Amino acid sequence: MNPATPGPHQRPDNLWSSRTAFILAAIGSAVGLGNIWKFPYITGENGGGAFVLVYLACIAVVGVPVLIAEVTIGRRGARSPVASMRSLTDADGTRRGWRIIGWNGIVGAFFLLSFYSVIGGWSILYIFKTAAGLFSGADADAVAGIFGAMLASPWSLLIWHSVFMALVILIVGRGIRAGMEKAINMLMPLLFLLLVVMVAYAATTGHFGRAVSFMFSPDFSKLSTESMLIALGHAAFTLSIGIGVMMSYGSYLPQHVNIARTAITIALMDTLVALLAGLAIFPLVFANGLEPGSGPGLIFVTLPLAFGHMTGGTVFGTVFFALLLIAALTSAISLLEPVTEWLEEHKGISRGKSALTGGLGIWAAGIGTVLSFNAWKDFFPLGFIPIFEGKTVFDLLDFLVSNVMLPVGGLAIALFAGWAIKRDGLDQAIGLKGPLYTAFMFVLRFLTPAGIAVVFLYNLV
Ligand code: PFF
Repeated sequence: MNPATPGPHQRPDNLWSSRTAFILAAIGSAVGLGNIWKFPYITGENGGGAFVLVYLACIAVVGVPVLIAEVTIGRRGARSPVASMRSLTDADGTRRGWRIIGWNGIVGAFFLLSFYSVIGGWSILYIFKTAAGLFSGADADAVAGIFGAMLASPWSLLIWHSVFMALVILIVGRGIRAGMEKAINMLMPLLFLLLVVMVAYAATTGHFGRAVSFMFSPDFSKLSTESMLIALGHAAFTLSIGIGVMMSYGSYLPQHVNIARTAITIALMDTLVALLAGLAIFPLVFANGLEPGSGPGLIFVTLPLAFGHMTGGTVFGTVFFALLLIAALTSAISLLEPVTEWLEEHKGISRGKSALTGGLGIWAAGIGTVLSFNAWKDFFPLGFIPIFEGKTVFDLLDFLVSNVMLPVGGLAIALFAGWAIKRDGLDQAIGLKGPLYTAFMFVLRFLTPAGIAVVFLYNLV
């Protein structure tokens, strides 16, 4: 990879202002509902410590290498994922088919945000519900009833989905420095602070030790092949790789930043947050004699029930949902970015209008998810195909984006960066020298693709 002639999005006034700014933005993207909502419950369901081990291996062998490759491609292309891939395939004379990576990114980010935003909306609603004391003293049926009533109301879901998308559009529309960086510099420290407050609160329950052993003592009997696919899919999901988001963020990355070191920092911080989220949640669950493996309802049913019966539960419950909202918001803005960057470039419209146009399209697509929980809850669009049986619009989008587009995108990126692009100068671009670079290329060319392909294919067969 030749040291790039700076592309159009590498204007000095349009770059992240520092390495730290980029790291915070990328951690903001990586840390999201995935860490706080999904990681704890999939760990609970798949054998605790055994699952954490497999997950860490997936992060190391698949997550970090693809993250490095994606950011490197983005910085060199210095455009939206679609145009970066076009520019790189042209410059290196590689096959045009690789360009699908760019499209997979834009389409994947579009649909992922369409349902991510609906769940982001739940967290806003839950801040209000918790602060209003709705859960204090409530029993299991009442709490489940509140969650059920929210899902049953398309209007309520639509309103909060709209509020969430409006926030995302406002931030992204103002641009990299004035919008994203400003918001991220404020939100990320707050996120860490709230997380530490929650872990400290959880430590007062007296069930911290049990949570630690639940999360870290391995039960290999619960670790199925499906668990491995879940771990792999989650490694891609949690690091925001495979669908162009990190490519877009990389397109604004100053040339002097060492990508390898940066990527490792991002992965470490993301994993730390996921583990801390588990340590904030499970002690509360155990202290109230509740079920840790209760699936997606863990955050919106089990936890409010716990908060409702604890001293300070109203305050700390509100803090918890604020934390969830911040995590979701900083990920959502990263999902709107590739779409916005593409519209800006492709349609030649201003940043603000691009964010608005892309955001409105995503908002409209989100209505499919809104209805999946009520009016369309028995509507299974591709139900005649066995693997899609019983999947609502939301289930289908989640499955296609999280379990297909993300891993397949990650595979294609690893293959493209490992085999197809010109390698001169690539070591410099990545920031690895000598044997470290050789080792990295070995992992990227062989282990990463093999890891993704085996787990993915096994599951299809
Ligand atoms: N990493 C985010 C999370 O863990 O919630 C979700 C996400 C954001 C996935 C951006 C993919 C993406 F491109």
